[in-house]
Amino acid sequence: MSESRRAQELRAEILVKTAEYYAEAFGGEADFEPGTSRVSYAGRVFDEREIVSLVDSSLDFWLTYGRFSKQFEEDLASFLGLKHCFLVNSGSSANLLAFSALTSPRLGERRIERGDEVITVAAGFPTTIAPIVQFGAVPVFVDVVLATGNVDVTQLEAALSSRTKAVMLAHTLGNTFDVDAVTAFCERHGLWLVEDNCDALGSKWRGRYTGGFGHIGTSSFYPPHHMTMGEGGAVYTDDDELASIVLAMRDWGRDCICPSGVDNRCGKRFSQQFGTLPFGYDHKYVYSEFGYNLKVSDMQAAVGVVQLEKLPGFIAARRRNFETLTTLLQPVRDALILPEPTPGAEPSWFGYLMTVREGVGVTRDELVAALEKARVQTRMLFGGNMTRQPCFDGMRASGEGFRTLGELPNTDRIMNDAFWIGVYPGMTEDMLAFMAETIVGSIRR
Ligand SMILES: Cc1ncc(COP(=O)(O)O)c(C=O)c1O
Repeated sequence: MSESRRAQELRAEILVKTAEYYAEAFGGEADFEPGTSRVSYAGRVFDEREIVSLVDSSLDFWLTYGRFSKQFEEDLASFLGLKHCFLVNSGSSANLLAFSALTSPRLGERRIERGDEVITVAAGFPTTIAPIVQFGAVPVFVDVVLATGNVDVTQLEAALSSRTKAVMLAHTLGNTFDVDAVTAFCERHGLWLVEDNCDALGSKWRGRYTGGFGHIGTSSFYPPHHMTMGEGGAVYTDDDELASIVLAMRDWGRDCICPSGVDNRCGKRFSQQFGTLPFGYDHKYVYSEFGYNLKVSDMQAAVGVVQLEKLPGFIAARRRNFETLTTLLQPVRDALILPEPTPGAEPSWFGYLMTVREGVGVTRDELVAALEKARVQTRMLFGGNMTRQPCFDGMRASGEGFRTLGELPNTDRIMNDAFWIGVYPGMTEDMLAFMAETIVGSIRR
């Protein structure tokens, strides 16, 4: 965009004023008063740089995919050490896109077809599994391990059938699933692996970032996540073919790869033959996939670009807060199953998951009530046991559309006895101490 000198000066002034506005409107930190101030489980952590970047982008008035989106995709791919990254409007859209890409006819025999099975877990977030169900594939649920909330890899072989095509799993609350076992299982049986990395950006497995172990990985940038752009997500992969399918499906299903506002980058816009379309039919309107429009506005990406620069600091703070809670909760480790990193993992924690042990004289619901009364925000492990959610009513009644490997006792345990609290970078030492005191006090009544 070419801007007149006066417009450039005005932009610079506006950005200086924006930073001043931040200092005035958001700058001061309120004192923490235990029991009165709210302790959120998560939230956006930002300063004037995000707002300045947002306003900068709004003055471009480009609105759709633009310079910040492109930069964000390049920066995140480089952070993760992957070739391709596509920005989308949510983590749920990212999961939809990642799964849908694997149904593309371009993949021939390996594509997922209706009725094929996808192994996953029920203790998690609904939109890790929604794309499987919506497409008409069959989720097959195996149980989880209590201390990690992650897939019990000893059950994978038993869950396999002649229709199994993929494994789709999240790293629960940042704690990495056993990547060695899951990838070995997928390789042994020629299965796709979709890594829902929405709660684990920055987690490492044997020194490498998660999200790149599967054929496709996904992120969410909704405010509670490791970094935010309000609404946003990403799909990433090292596979060129999957990347081109993901791009097409993100952008209406079209074959053309010109970004918004660009025409005829390939120079062959009116000179190609596609299927039975007339020769030279405008490539901009040639659809090689059935797609969506899952793009974000460039203003969201402008916030994301700054947040991504801060990500290493955010991850370190989450790890520190996790360690602090583990130390402070030692007095009640006989009453609570405290979270443990999967051996081999260096988690970038999303939350602090605890399961109340049996017969300790206090229930999960009592602990949650005590924390919420003390103004500490708590969370369940999302859907608990997804197969018991109302959205499964029809499938449960008919006994069709999904399978479980046995009764999923640990998944039910998590639904009944587990909850989590936050470790986000906005948490102070005082807040961590207060949360731990409240928990210890409620157990030692
Ligand atoms: C594991 C997991 N996957 C996917 C999502 C969906 O992300 P979004 O809220 O951006 O749609 C979430 C949301 O928190 C999540 O926890």
